[in-house]
Amino acid sequence: MSDTSTASGNTEHCRALRKDGTPCKAAVLRDGLCFGHQPIDRAARARGGSRRSNAARSVKLLPARLAPIFERMERVFISLDEGMYDRQQATAMATVASVLLKIVQAGELEERVRDLEERVSRSQEPAQWVPMDPAMAALRKDRVAFTQAAGIAPDVWQADVLRSDSPRILLNCSRQSGKSTVVGALALHKAIYEPGALVVVVAVAQRQATEMIRACRDLYAALDRPIAAESENKLSLELRNGSRILSVPSTEATIRGLSKARLLILDEASRIPDALYAAVLPFLAISNGALALLSTPFGKRGFFYNAYCHRDEWFYREVWGQECPRISAEFLAKMRREMGDYFYAQEWECQFNDSVTGAFRSADIDAAVKDYPVWDLGQYSVPADVGFPQEEEDGARWNLAQYATR
Ligand SMILES: Nc1ncnc2c1ncn2[C@@H]1O[C@H](COP(=O)(O)OP(=O)(O)OP(=O)(O)O)[C@@H](O)[C@H]1O
Ligand SMILES: [Mg+2]
Repeated sequence: MSDTSTASGNTEHCRALRKDGTPCKAAVLRDGLCFGHQPIDRAARARGGSRRSNAARSVKLLPARLAPIFERMERVFISLDEGMYDRQQATAMATVASVLLKIVQAGELEERVRDLEERVSRSQEPAQWVPMDPAMAALRKDRVAFTQAAGIAPDVWQADVLRSDSPRILLNCSRQSGKSTVVGALALHKAIYEPGALVVVVAVAQRQATEMIRACRDLYAALDRPIAAESENKLSLELRNGSRILSVPSTEATIRGLSKARLLILDEASRIPDALYAAVLPFLAISNGALALLSTPFGKRGFFYNAYCHRDEWFYREVWGQECPRISAEFLAKMRREMGDYFYAQEWECQFNDSVTGAFRSADIDAAVKDYPVWDLGQYSVPADVGFPQEEEDGARWNLAQYATR
């Protein structure tokens, strides 16, 4: 039994008095006092102690819309401190505040998705010819020289990617090998030299999206902004020639406009849901757009693994950590020690591991199954707003062959 209950089973009440002189009804936490009446270091608080300064700092970080909720919560905590509320009342108020917070967050997310949808599906900006410095114009035909002009000397494999005109690029590369940089250069080249081009970066996490856009913007700045920007922020870069590089989350809500993309980039593709991939493939067939999948592996499952199984149908490059001139052998040895062989192989040696929890190795399953099911993606060439069937567990394979050529 906790020390908040008496022998008879009744809750023991706090022995302190409320500000109005009435007895505090809150349950005892410690030393006969409730949570709110626990002694606090009032001297420290008066000096602007930690509680105060933390709260003040948090308020500054808050979006303006959340300030009233925060203030209300602060009032509740102060009242709780003073014994004005019992534990149930305080819990109820905290619950209401957290629901309010969720509503505000959901509203903000929805607003952002709506804005992205609108921007992605906006009818193509009129392509505008914008005069360009002749030296810059001369780099149109040479993406390697273009990247060099931005101060990056591409690694051999990066130069191969830049020279390739393949509409299907598959990069299975270790962490930090330079995949975002090279694909960022492809994206920026398209935006600069193909007025009105739409380049879309799809990513599971905003961190990936911002990194890819940052790669584009770093190159753009290093080239001295050869075409002025209409707008530039951490999630997009829009140029005065009507070209746009936009990043969007990998949710079906944002895919409707992808049919217009001239280049579609799926960053950390192994983490993107198969349903999204199934939805965007038919769009690419319509737009004649190019597709770049870049990732470290993430188990023997999903479209990225399947593309790897059919890598001869793609422009494929595999780059291990040890092949990257910027990653030292000492660093890799440390990684192997810290991560263990299993995860090291995935992150730094491009290996598609079996699931840690899987009861069978997938090689054994492959050997046991004769008529391996091949999914026909044709059934998904339906309008984007028609739902897609639930993804089956690992094991089903995409038939990519039909989409490999346009
Ligand atoms: N050819 C290059 N020369 C010099 N620096 C490079 C080159 N390629 C990439 N870099 C630098 O290496 C770092 C990692 O590059 P990048 O972010 O493109 O790698 P990544 O493979 O996308 O990494 P992650 O696995 O974290 O997504 C960046 O600082 C980038 O500027
Ligand atoms: Mg990256």
